Amino acid sequence: MSYKPLTKAILPVAGLGTRFLPATKAIPKEMLTVVDKPLIQYIIHEAAEAGITDIILVTHSSKGAIENHFDKHYELEKELELRGKMDRMVPLNEITPKGVRIVSVRQPEALGLGHAILCAAPIIAENEPFAVLLPDVLMHHPVKGCLAQMAETYEKVHTSVVALEEVPQDQVEKYGIADVKGPDLRITELVEKPSIEEAPSNLSVVGRYIFTPRVMELLKHTKPGAGGEIQLTDAMDDLLKEEVMFGFEFKGGKSYDCGDKLGYLQANVEYALRDAKLGEDFKAYLDALETKEI
Ligand code: UTP
Repeated sequence: MSYKPLTKAILPVAGLGTRFLPATKAIPKEMLTVVDKPLIQYIIHEAAEAGITDIILVTHSSKGAIENHFDKHYELEKELELRGKMDRMVPLNEITPKGVRIVSVRQPEALGLGHAILCAAPIIAENEPFAVLLPDVLMHHPVKGCLAQMAETYEKVHTSVVALEEVPQDQVEKYGIADVKGPDLRITELVEKPSIEEAPSNLSVVGRYIFTPRVMELLKHTKPGAGGEIQLTDAMDDLLKEEVMFGFEFKGGKSYDCGDKLGYLQANVEYALRDAKLGEDFKAYLDALETKEI
């Protein structure tokens, strides 16, 4: 089948964010800030860099703040103008990248990541590939974003491509784990949260995917798996029986699992150190910090 160009990305944001309670009781996890921007803004910019023009948020009634963040705020603009503080206003085109449209679909109940992706099926054409980016995983690269690199691979292979990274063997139970073969990282097996004994490797699926449309069809028939949730990994494992899928090793950059408190704190420290305006002062502060006294 010949596919349409890759222009759409699905960002699931309908989860409960239980690991971050109480912070996420009234604020979506995806709106937690790293330095001065919410997580979701970093992710949308990464997608735009890869040539994505249509962002599909899979959202929930409690997550209106996400859509508002990417919309115009007339009252705020007026108020800043009245107070002569328009320089504080970040232009909307810096928040939403130029040429990117954002639409939303609802996932009424958090039935799992696979179910969230399936909620976007009406917006994906039968012959259309699409990307999935998990908004609580930040991928920093000094030169080119992770999805942009994966899109280059996709343009060569025209089959599904999944970002992978090594995790410590004793932590495989927390992740979707892939087994791969050969130098081109052809994926042979995928298991969601395997036990340490059953894990086929320590290569974890890291929150960036480019899929052929077939995965949507398979998701329609995917039964609840680990944790009673409809798991994307299970549909991907079914896809492996029909199509070739490649792993993509993210090199020269760093990923941060911001759905986890420690990963989130690490992201804040390291993004602050890289920040053009804050970095130097923040480093001086850290260097002088006597952690023993805290
Ligand atoms: P996570 O499992 O990391 O998020 O899903 P969560 O369920 O919100 O967090 P915890 O584990 O309770 O702390 C990864 C992404 O998938 C979305 C989440 O919003 C998150 O951005 N997601 C997850 C959905 O949209 N729907 C779901 O049913 C599950």
